[in-house]
Amino acid sequence: MYASRNLLAAVASAIIATSLVQASPNMVPDYEVKLLMNPTVVLGTDFKLKPTVLSTFSMPTTVTKMNVQFLDKSNEEIYNAGWSPRIRKIEDEDDFELTYKKRYPITNGDINAALTTANTEGFDSGDTGYEAQVEWGYQKQTLSISREKSSSDSGYSGMDLPNQSDSRDYLIDEAPDKFDDWLYNNWGTTALASARIFGPILAKRSIGTWSGLQLYIEVWPIKNAAGTGIEYIVEASFKTTSATTAASKQADLITLLTNKGWFLAQDSLKTQLIMERY
Ligand SMILES: *[C@@H]1O[C@H](CO)[C@@H](O)[C@H](O)[C@H]1NC(C)=O
Repeated sequence: MYASRNLLAAVASAIIATSLVQASPNMVPDYEVKLLMNPTVVLGTDFKLKPTVLSTFSMPTTVTKMNVQFLDKSNEEIYNAGWSPRIRKIEDEDDFELTYKKRYPITNGDINAALTTANTEGFDSGDTGYEAQVEWGYQKQTLSISREKSSSDSGYSGMDLPNQSDSRDYLIDEAPDKFDDWLYNNWGTTALASARIFGPILAKRSIGTWSGLQLYIEVWPIKNAAGTGIEYIVEASFKTTSATTAASKQADLITLLTNKGWFLAQDSLKTQLIMERY
């Protein structure tokens, strides 16, 4: 009687010890602060950044073009599961960039809680193929965990993105296991096999400096809510590996943009807008 109880206790503590030993640390994220600028103020009639904006951030007039599209079923099954498979072509770069991104909401600024949730769902510090990033907006933060692959762009020219059939094939061929088996075995590739294109969006990126950081401003022409024209989303962003830097420089950049009259006090929801409007 006692013996078997002791044995049970020993087995139980061994199981607990094993699971403690096997638990891997959370992923270590970097941080990307993204703040919106008021398009009606910062863009000229040509929908390019005004010279005063460029000079404030030591930006050249040259831009880098990026063409971006997402793939999903029309019922947005993939997006609703928190994933976004994306194909991007960056000007002057070889190959299409394929990204499989999983989003986790961050509530009340609790980044560790989101990292722990991701850990329990299989993303820990051992997942070297994946990168964790805190997307830090005006009031909202999101944890994204993404895996990047590439695919040859031979047969395509300039900024062209693959058509629906090739887009499906490329994303299916490179699909990582965690994405593919997210809800059940081969869930991801099965959904991609009947996916359509959301987009494309031909965005333009300017690169400058501010406060010792590399600063980007991107202009994204996205279909407007009525579907009758284009709405320009202008987003300033910088990256850092430090949460402290992200917090303090985010506040500084809000102050600067506000003082200039350029700030749009809203969170950026580019992917959501694309999923809604295309
Ligand atoms: C998609 O593009 C590929 C490569 O350019 C081409 O071979 C194929 O015929 C296209 N498919 C459709 C359905 O247009």
